[in-house]
Amino acid sequence: MKIFNNKKDLKDCLLEYKRNKKTIGFVPTMGALHEGHLSLIEKAAQKNEIVVVSIFVNPTQFDNVEDLKKYPKTIENDIKLLTSVSCDILFSPSVEEIYSANIISEKFDFDGLEHQMEGKFRDGHFDGVGTVVKTLFEIVEPNKAYFGQKDFQQLQIIKKMVEKHHLKVKIKGCPIYREEDGLAMSSRNTRLSTEHREIAPFIHKTLRKVQKKFSTKSISEINKWLENQFKKQPLLKLEYFTIADEKTLKTAKNKESNKQYRAFIAVFAGEIRLIDNIRLKN
Ligand code: PAF
Repeated sequence: MKIFNNKKDLKDCLLEYKRNKKTIGFVPTMGALHEGHLSLIEKAAQKNEIVVVSIFVNPTQFDNVEDLKKYPKTIENDIKLLTSVSCDILFSPSVEEIYSANIISEKFDFDGLEHQMEGKFRDGHFDGVGTVVKTLFEIVEPNKAYFGQKDFQQLQIIKKMVEKHHLKVKIKGCPIYREEDGLAMSSRNTRLSTEHREIAPFIHKTLRKVQKKFSTKSISEINKWLENQFKKQPLLKLEYFTIADEKTLKTAKNKESNKQYRAFIAVFAGEIRLIDNIRLKN
């Protein structure tokens, strides 16, 4: 595996592959890699000749300085993991390499997708994500890029950015990877206390129950039921739960037969914010 910290060297190397008509699959990450990331890398390797992974903890997408400071950094272990899978190139730039002296986000219009859910609770988050992902796409110029559906809103927003900015890359959403007990894999899981880690699978279990209820109960009944479930769980604090249209991400009040819905949730387990979602069938 080749490792680059500098975009010029990376671009020179990629140019050679592109000249030889090799297809490039890209997996952008913030490091602290887990099996969820590795599954994205394997997907990229199945469909492309060269796989590029980036590790960059992007400061502009954090609305909370403490969260940024405490974001797990495990580069040595990440490199070990990457060499054990089909990663050809790791790009691990510094903040200066990506932002020069101006660590600020570009302002994006994602047709309202950015104002829902995470956008309401994490100020400027999606401008930060858009800025870094667009910059990374401009550097790597991949044929395809792979994102997990755990961050479903992020996935839809990146698809929208690609469409609006006429970028050539194809965006591939991949299923949520879960621990055996159902907890969605996340780099933040390593920061959970033992008692919070034990209770955290409750989030997915409750979403599974929502999935069952969706065919027989109204959305308002489900919302009330879910709130009550979390009231009985003192270790978990519900930030939001919403059933939304997958396309617009707007909260649904009533079910319409021609729409595809998904349930989205954000929960604090102590200081750690966990998100998850599940597809619903009418
Ligand atoms: O999902 C993530 O890890 C990040 O938001 C991403 C897409 C790598 C951008 O920093």
